[in-house]
Amino acid sequence: MQIETKIKDLIDKSGPISLSRYMEICLWDEENGYYNSKEVLGEKGDFITSPEISQTFGELVGLWALNFHQQFINKKRICITELGPGRGTLLNDATRAISKVINEQFDLDITVLEKSQTLINLQKANLNNINVKWISDIKKLSLEPQIIIANEFFDALPINQYVRGNEGWHEKKVTTKNGKLCFTLDNKIWVPSDSIFSNFKVGDTIEYSEQTVRIFSNICNHLIQYDGVLLVIDYGNVSGIGDTLQAVNNHDFKDILEKPGQSDLSSHVNFKLLKEIASKKNLYVSKVKEQQIFLLELGIMERLKSLTKNVSSAIAQKLASEIKRLIDPDKMGSLFKVIAVTKNNRHLEGLS
Ligand SMILES: C[S@@+](CC[C@H](N)C(=O)[O-])C[C@H]1O[C@@H](n2cnc3c(N)ncnc32)[C@H](O)[C@@H]1O
Repeated sequence: MQIETKIKDLIDKSGPISLSRYMEICLWDEENGYYNSKEVLGEKGDFITSPEISQTFGELVGLWALNFHQQFINKKRICITELGPGRGTLLNDATRAISKVINEQFDLDITVLEKSQTLINLQKANLNNINVKWISDIKKLSLEPQIIIANEFFDALPINQYVRGNEGWHEKKVTTKNGKLCFTLDNKIWVPSDSIFSNFKVGDTIEYSEQTVRIFSNICNHLIQYDGVLLVIDYGNVSGIGDTLQAVNNHDFKDILEKPGQSDLSSHVNFKLLKEIASKKNLYVSKVKEQQIFLLELGIMERLKSLTKNVSSAIAQKLASEIKRLIDPDKMGSLFKVIAVTKNNRHLEGLS
């Protein structure tokens, strides 16, 4: 059955549905859900991510992970987990870079959290030279220090939206009108349990992702018990205000309710909320840095120099323009932010 028909039937039967339910169906419907049915990532897909743009991204993140391990963990096993690795490109580049600098004294132990069977199959093919363990639940992480990498992961998790009225918060839901999908505000007042919902004015919208809070909190608990670090790279803001939900199809923005299941749905990560959750658990949260600063401090220009040493000027130009896309403030350089969460106040490369 078409996703749109499924959603309309559900609304006819039980009334307006929350945005998170709408997103869950669009993205994960078993039959026609976005992540289960098509090639979503890369030039041929609907959107492109940093590791797909330039190999230097994964290489630098890999070396950042190794540096953290050598400074603060320093065990024989280097445990790296990636959340939602898409096509597996970051892991390929990261492990290649790490393997060049470590010797046999170290074992690389790689775990992947992935929900899409289509992407798991692709990851298995693309990562066939690395020993990888796939998990479907963050609670299955092995009980040792983990270096956890989340690039454009949290933005993909379903959110709810709440709009501030005179008397309190109203949930924005999806309903139908004259046979078409549309948004509506729930009459009921929704009472938040979280302090991030204070100090707003009438008309403000706030987004809240229960899945983000659950997964992030579980990771925090793992860090408290076993040490390690979580590196989050994503587009997002620190104010936590605003309607940021977006639909992208074939590299273009679309209406959220148009052709459900055929576009990628994502939203800006609320870094303020992540900071609050981790701080309440007495974890150390780094500054929130723009992607451009992080990559420049990690040496992306030096890497470009070494990559372009013996290549034609056409290839050198191509490599330079890929890197420009990652660090240009008008492209991904500013919108994308980076934070890390770890046990103690540590000097973290690129984030201090
Ligand atoms: C936007 S893609 C990012 C891919 C990759 N990190 C990159 O930068 O190219 C989101 C990834 O997260 C995965 N994902 C989304 N929700 C998930 C969930 N609840 N559990 C596990 N993986 C999930 C998707 O299948 C996909 O691999």
